[in-house]
Amino acid sequence: MKTDWFTHDRFGMFIHWGLYAIPARGEWVRSIERISVEDYQKYFDSFNPQNYNPKEWAKLAKEAGMKYAVLTAKHHDGFCLFDSAYTDYKSTNTQCGRDLVREFLDAFRDEGLKVGLYYSLLDWHHPDYPHYGDKIHPMRDNEAFKDVTHDFPNYLKYLHSQVEELCTSYGKLDILWFDFSYDNLHGEAWEATKLVRMVRGLQPGILIDNRLEVSGEGYGSIAKKVPLEYAGDFASPEQIIPHEGLVGEDGLPINWEACITMNNSWGFAQKDTNFKPAPMLIKKLVECVSKGGNLLLNVGPDANGRIPEESIKILKDIGAWISRNGKSIYGCGRSGLPKPDSGRITRNGEKLYYHIYESQVGPIQLEGLKKDDIKSMRLISTGSELDLSDSWVLWSYPGIPFVSFGDSPLLPDPVDTVVEVELKQ
Ligand code: GLC
Repeated sequence: MKTDWFTHDRFGMFIHWGLYAIPARGEWVRSIERISVEDYQKYFDSFNPQNYNPKEWAKLAKEAGMKYAVLTAKHHDGFCLFDSAYTDYKSTNTQCGRDLVREFLDAFRDEGLKVGLYYSLLDWHHPDYPHYGDKIHPMRDNEAFKDVTHDFPNYLKYLHSQVEELCTSYGKLDILWFDFSYDNLHGEAWEATKLVRMVRGLQPGILIDNRLEVSGEGYGSIAKKVPLEYAGDFASPEQIIPHEGLVGEDGLPINWEACITMNNSWGFAQKDTNFKPAPMLIKKLVECVSKGGNLLLNVGPDANGRIPEESIKILKDIGAWISRNGKSIYGCGRSGLPKPDSGRITRNGEKLYYHIYESQVGPIQLEGLKKDDIKSMRLISTGSELDLSDSWVLWSYPGIPFVSFGDSPLLPDPVDTVVEVELKQ
């Protein structure tokens, strides 16, 4: 199936980058502060990220254990990071003069990572995108726009042309990440069937998210027995990990990818220092995998083109853990067993991975199993064989498997100690 690589790889990098890195208050700054096109122009005029080196980004993503990346080719502010023939509002026309998307794609492909582009369906720069009365446009309550009319079909022509451009001029794309539908702007309002047919015609293997139909809060018809043609290939829950993962009306699991920020912002935000620590993010990745989903973890490079130091540090720590425990992530999914007391379980075929977070007094129970189910066990960080514990304290629990890591009351890895349990066939 075309989603095989996606459900195998599990962990990707989201990159939100654009003019908004200069005001450094997040990518919604124009909308939240109701900044006019004219007042925002100074960022276009001074955009010159001289430290943009996507090769470094790609190396970092790889070191973090990420297998794919998605870059904002155009965000809601309408600024294009690629050399579009349909607008002047693009990186090649700024002082920097570079096609940032092309360089991103080349660099990440060179590192062997899969590549995706995010494309905003909204556009706060295009004159034909609804302004006044829209839910979020920066000019939504500016009376000066009250009687201004918009040729929305002309905007749709622009949107479709740009998507066609991205699908024809930049080689093989693995993901197209549309963002997002709201109010009456969803589905056929974007001419979604036509758009999806074009994209799939030009890029037969591409995966598309579900936001031509919904936003980060809904799943849309991807959960229905008969999804709409533009339902997408995966759901995209935002800033949340669904409680039980996602299952459709027919009871079958749905592919999904939780997109999550490292601090509280997608685009670079100077004052947002609320970074989630690496141990937490490792557990969140495990949680996604244990529920049959992916994690797309965001970075917001600054106006010079650098990924923030805090993010780099966290990503390297995650990568160090994955380099020892990646077998319990890649190619893994739901275990079919209830969540145990001590942590979570992921599974790859006949191998179960017990992610043990919590130290126990005495040996740790491998919940959901019987002794007879087990063929062998290993601590995957070192590959050492582990034996079932036969401590006398377990005499009242015959048949139930427990594992022990020795005399220390602490776990070998205080963040997540992973035990691989091979089941008898
Ligand atoms: C949103 C936001 C946005 C961000 C995205 C990521 O819906 O509008 O700024 O790009 O979600 O999922």
